[in-house]
Amino acid sequence: MAKEATPVAALSREQAAEELARLAGEIAGHDARYHRDDAPIISDADYDALRRRNAEIEARFPDLKRPDSPSERVGAAPGEKFAKVRHAVPMLSLDNAFDGDDVADFLNRVRRFLKLEADAPVPVFAEPKIDGLSASLRYERGRFVQGATRGDGFEGEDVTRNLRTVDDIPEQLQGRVPDIFEVRGEVYMSHADFAALNERQVAADKPPFANPRNAAAGSLRQLDATITASRPLKFFAYAWGEASERPADTQSGAVAAMAAWGLPVNPLARRVEGVEAMLAFHADIEARRAELGYDIDGVVYKVDDLARQDALGFVSRSPRWAIAHKFAAEQATTVIEGIEIQVGRTGALTPVARLTPVTVGGVVVSNATLHNADYIAGIGNDGQPIREGRDIRVGDTVIVQRAGDVIPQVVDVVLDKRPADAQPYAFPTVCPVCGSHAVREVNEKTGKVDSVSRCTGGLICAAQAVERLKHFVSRMAFDIEGLGEKQIAAFHADGLIAQPADIFTLELRDAEPDNLKRLKNREGFGETSVANLFAAIDERRTIDLDRFTYALGIRHVGETTARDIARHFGSFGAFREAAESVGGGEGAELDVLTDVDGVGPIVARAIGEFFAEEHNRGAIDALLTQVTPNEMERPGADGGELPLAGQTIVFTGALEEMSRPDAEALAQSLGAKTAGSVSKKTTLVVAGPGAGSKLKKASELGIEVIDEAAWLERAGKG
Ligand code: IVH
Repeated sequence: MAKEATPVAALSREQAAEELARLAGEIAGHDARYHRDDAPIISDADYDALRRRNAEIEARFPDLKRPDSPSERVGAAPGEKFAKVRHAVPMLSLDNAFDGDDVADFLNRVRRFLKLEADAPVPVFAEPKIDGLSASLRYERGRFVQGATRGDGFEGEDVTRNLRTVDDIPEQLQGRVPDIFEVRGEVYMSHADFAALNERQVAADKPPFANPRNAAAGSLRQLDATITASRPLKFFAYAWGEASERPADTQSGAVAAMAAWGLPVNPLARRVEGVEAMLAFHADIEARRAELGYDIDGVVYKVDDLARQDALGFVSRSPRWAIAHKFAAEQATTVIEGIEIQVGRTGALTPVARLTPVTVGGVVVSNATLHNADYIAGIGNDGQPIREGRDIRVGDTVIVQRAGDVIPQVVDVVLDKRPADAQPYAFPTVCPVCGSHAVREVNEKTGKVDSVSRCTGGLICAAQAVERLKHFVSRMAFDIEGLGEKQIAAFHADGLIAQPADIFTLELRDAEPDNLKRLKNREGFGETSVANLFAAIDERRTIDLDRFTYALGIRHVGETTARDIARHFGSFGAFREAAESVGGGEGAELDVLTDVDGVGPIVARAIGEFFAEEHNRGAIDALLTQVTPNEMERPGADGGELPLAGQTIVFTGALEEMSRPDAEALAQSLGAKTAGSVSKKTTLVVAGPGAGSKLKKASELGIEVIDEAAWLERAGKG
């Protein structure tokens, strides 16, 4: 079942840490496949989406950034077969822009960093972004002495012999050339040469290359340089590494100098100024993309003035003075064979298109999300028509796109190809899993009907039940070792667990003499693992109130809200009493819940509805016969004000005495709120060594800044 990635804004700390770990592994794997093996398994757009998600999560939780973060790394470590070359100047990568706003942001960042006026001109050198592989060519006194691949950005492979076979790469540069000059640029293969090579491959019974980039990479990294020589590679110079002297004061001037020395440079590059001109360049190059005869995947803008480039410098893996403006994601046309409805934990019905499989950007796609009933009907979230109002029907020929989103989207319908008998899609009014009514709620505030249909079946809905059980055992909830999503799904399917309480009666039932379904006889289980599982379950018979509250899976009650609730009420009984008093209530009746810091009317209503539902009350009663939630100390319950109440604290830089999460927890326990970024609401910044932009922002906003020692003092730990 395709699962939509949780939006970054909705991730808990714990989930964010897990996601970052997962993304680090996944991206490293793709890096190795792409850079080392020349055999990627996902499209560039999807790869970019992974990196972007990683960066977004890191921006939200800067302290969770991992030492092995992909944002600190470029490419993959080199393969074993070539000698290694340490790059005197690292070969870094480029940050990506995907639309005009990103480009405007880039320019504004540059201006801010250089302390220029908001409308100060910043000429950039704009060039096509060649889809090949980068190489570094070292020239000493104008003679080509060594060539290397990028590798991991710091160390590449010595492919000098192979690069010597590339016609575009001169052995000797012409004219007055600096003593040492490392030319950087892209090795690529033209479409025509790629087609011819693949023809030869097939004729020789060898597998064809997936695309020109892979062909170029595979050709360059041949141990036998005569093979490289037989492959028609080309080269464009666009940058430089170590240089004993700079040939010009501008990017455009340096590129012109390289051209004068006899190096091939891209003829389409232009010096442009201002967002409009940059976007016009992008549009122009995109329009000419098909006729270029080689693959490009966007354009690159570089601040033209080299003194400015120097001042701007680098941030982790990319220069602040350049950005790649990618072309829109690739699209493909296919047919919708059916529409299926998936039901999530909170009962949301998500329509998914089953497609005739089609390759989009190098990846086979057979499912695409259709979001909700409105999306299918041609209505956007704002109630306005999308796709000019064209609806989506089974049998339709559609355009699918794999863009930033990991899940492919159906972006448009080809009406000309609609079968005569195609019917408008009737979105189900009952849950396809349990048959309960599916409703679209009305948002009281806006009076608008929610775009999402929800199953009203609650726990009697098998789909919701499974998803809720998975949530119940998840990391921040009961976190039972040996009982993960897979086991839950299997136990539920076999009727062993229908509701949370059943987890805790599993052992008793397992021991019944006539039981034919003993756990130890299941695949993947044995005496020991079953004993371990029961022990792990027993360990959770008492549990902290916040975890217990979170585990219930009440809509809108994430771990933070659960903690706020637990702190506020102190016991489950008190919380439940308040929640049940609300019922389906409105207005002032919600006050008992909205009194909780962090609980607004929407959350309060969701809690009230949850407890108003009989299934839920029954499930909780059953659970409470098995499990005891601990009482929680209510901070300030004695009426005394907490020492840091009302403060919003940001920790930045390195802390030496305690980890950042511990420092944040300490601050919270003293009544403060903590935040990841400095804003007008911030009242205090605790800055350790290495603090940067947040510290700057704090001083700009006149916010008090203290060091760790002073902080510990204030927290009563000094
Ligand atoms: S400049 C420090 N210019 O894109 C900046 N890169 O996504 C060095 N690329 O590693 C790169 N065309 O392999 C630059 N006109 C161009 C480019 C270009 C293609 C590649 C290059 C780079 C990657 C970054």
